[in-house]
Amino acid sequence: MLLAAIVLVFAAFYYIPWLKKVISDFLYQYPHMQKLPGPKRLPFIGCIADLAGDTTVPIKFWMQEAEKVRAKGEGIFAITVLGRNITFPVNGEMVRPNFPPLQYICESPNEILKGKDYDFLKGWIGDGILTLIGQPWRDRRKSYTPLFHFSMLEGYLDAFNKHARVLCEVLQKEAGTEVDMCERVKRLALDAITDAAMDINFDTQRDPSHPYLHAVHDFTHMQQRYINEPQMWVKWIWATLYHRRYKYSLDILNDFSDKIMNDRLKRVQCGEIDLNAKKRPLIDHFFGLNQRGEWTLDDVHFELNGVIFGGHDTTSATLTWIFWALGTQPHFQQQCFEEINDIFGDTDRDCTHEDMKAMEFTERFVKETMRIFPPIPAVERELQNDFQMGDYLLPKGSEVFMAPHVIHRNPEIYPDPWKFDPDRWLPENVAKRNPYDFIPFSAGNRNCLGQKFAMHEIKTVLAWTLRKFIFSTNKKLLDQGFAIEVICKPTLPVDLLITPRN
Ligand code: HEM
Repeated sequence: MLLAAIVLVFAAFYYIPWLKKVISDFLYQYPHMQKLPGPKRLPFIGCIADLAGDTTVPIKFWMQEAEKVRAKGEGIFAITVLGRNITFPVNGEMVRPNFPPLQYICESPNEILKGKDYDFLKGWIGDGILTLIGQPWRDRRKSYTPLFHFSMLEGYLDAFNKHARVLCEVLQKEAGTEVDMCERVKRLALDAITDAAMDINFDTQRDPSHPYLHAVHDFTHMQQRYINEPQMWVKWIWATLYHRRYKYSLDILNDFSDKIMNDRLKRVQCGEIDLNAKKRPLIDHFFGLNQRGEWTLDDVHFELNGVIFGGHDTTSATLTWIFWALGTQPHFQQQCFEEINDIFGDTDRDCTHEDMKAMEFTERFVKETMRIFPPIPAVERELQNDFQMGDYLLPKGSEVFMAPHVIHRNPEIYPDPWKFDPDRWLPENVAKRNPYDFIPFSAGNRNCLGQKFAMHEIKTVLAWTLRKFIFSTNKKLLDQGFAIEVICKPTLPVDLLITPRN
């Protein structure tokens, strides 16, 4: 009895300030939200009933609502979910108006606060580039930019070639059978990013029992539950169900980074490693920034984790969709193969920077895959002030989700939007579009720093695998649905028959 009373008093103290904020946000935002187009929203609980169901529901719902408001000539729709008010622009021009001086949501220094879903990541990625705001973010971005310059990208190609070769070796053993490509590329992407970032070979492609791989999977699974299930936003429910498991995975992830950093730092200190070598992993660039006094060792630790978080699941989901698009469209697979064959002939050589430029059709194919199957469900921002978006006034404290699935299906920009057409990426067609009409990597001054890195990795994997195998399935391109698992993943297994080329 006494214990129950203590718990109640404690809970009241803990939750009263939170409750006060929820109520005052609601009273301020509700009248504004009522004026915005979108589905029927009950006060506070909003459209929770429309979103009930499995992880495929949200994207379907967003796409349907976008179609409805477009038909009425509106540029946004707004939804409410348990007190979270979220606005979705439905075209690129709404995100970045063609005619200034209207503010751009993605580029405004005031509105840059990332959405609530990033809170979960803090234990892994700390306050790094992904979540920093204002001047600290500008400084961090400035230190990062040279690391993804094309001259640096050449250094990372070695890691991509090495792990793409291993992928081919693994697939060769399974030739003649149907293989779950999602699993294979997940491990490849983790090996490639940890190698390029930390010069370490976890080799999870050959050893899928590696604890780092399991910790990453477990962490992202918990993050998925946190994002998708609103009851998890209540701290005690979350803590009761997951706190121990969360801490366990986090300890593994952080301990690995610490150990790798400490070992390498010792080698730097004994002069074994040259921090100015032409080809060097990201960790050496980061140590260089530390030596120049720009970053602390904590910054190095969290940025390494941030790059691994930001770079592995996104790239592996993109590759999964690409293999799906190849397997279901043999004529496009053949076109990619012919281009690669023209460049490499029947050699077994590594990919170079020049090859990346020459893979022009393959790049268009990749971009069209990323348009139809974008890996990130939404780029999220939380408004620090009332924000005028076109004709709509969005209230302070509400959120804006720039959802590629919504924006990439705007028929005014992409006629027949479900048709797979790599020609949409011919330069003359790209020139007509607003940069925010294509946002798998976001756009503007806070776009993805690793997009060229990711493109190089993807092209290297394609150059290797298409030289050696044909991927096939009797399923159709659009048989797939979209499941939000932090990243947007296919609902059907991507099981493809692997046939070696002669
Ligand atoms: C296909 C793969 C990838 C996709 C689809 C992707 C997508 C994105 C998106 C949408 C953002 C903006 C997030 C936001 O503003 O909330 C972002 C930011 C970022 N990405 Fe990527 N990313 C990919 C690969 C990578 C890789 C491989 C790296 C590093 C090697 C990387 C590093 C970053 C960083 C550092 C940022 C933060 C930029 C900033 O806030 O200034 N990404 N990415």
